[in-house]
Amino acid sequence: MRIGIGNDHVAVEYKQTIKQYIEKEYGYEVIDFGTNSSERFDYPIAGKVVANAVASGEVERGIVICGTGVGIGIAANKVNGIRCVICSEPYSARMSRQHNDANMLSFGARVIGLELAKMLVDVWLTTEYEGGRHAKRVQMLNEGTTS
Ligand code: RB5
Repeated sequence: MRIGIGNDHVAVEYKQTIKQYIEKEYGYEVIDFGTNSSERFDYPIAGKVVANAVASGEVERGIVICGTGVGIGIAANKVNGIRCVICSEPYSARMSRQHNDANMLSFGARVIGLELAKMLVDVWLTTEYEGGRHAKRVQMLNEGTTS
C-alpha cells in the first residue's frame, strides 16, 4: 500500500515519527507531501495536496496532521472522492473504515500523544470496509446527494 502523509508547521516532527512507524511496522511506502519546515505553512494547502493524491490514485490512503486535525481534515474533505475522518479515539477510527470507507485519517499533534496516534493508525489501517448496507450511503457521500 502507498500512503500519502502531510502536515502543517505544527506537526513536522510528529509527522516524521508517524511516517517512520508505518514504514517499520507495515512496510508500506509512505510518501511525504510536507511540510518539513518550521516556517508557517497553511494547513488548507497541506490537506488539499494529500487529498488530491488520494483522489487521483497516486496513493491509496492519506494521513494528515495539524494542531487539532480539524482544519487539515476539513480541507481534505473538500476534494471530491475524499472521506476523511477527523478523530482522536480508536472507536471512530474503526467505524470510519467499516461504515464510511474513510480513505483519509486526520488527527491533531496538539490533541493526542504519539502512542495514541499510532493506535489510531493501526486500527484505521487494518480495519476493512464492510460494504453491504453502507455502500448506498458511501455512494451518496461520493455523489454529494442528501436524499
Ligand atoms: C495552527 O496554529 C493551527 O491553527 C493548525 O495547526 C490547526 O490546528 C488548524 O486546524
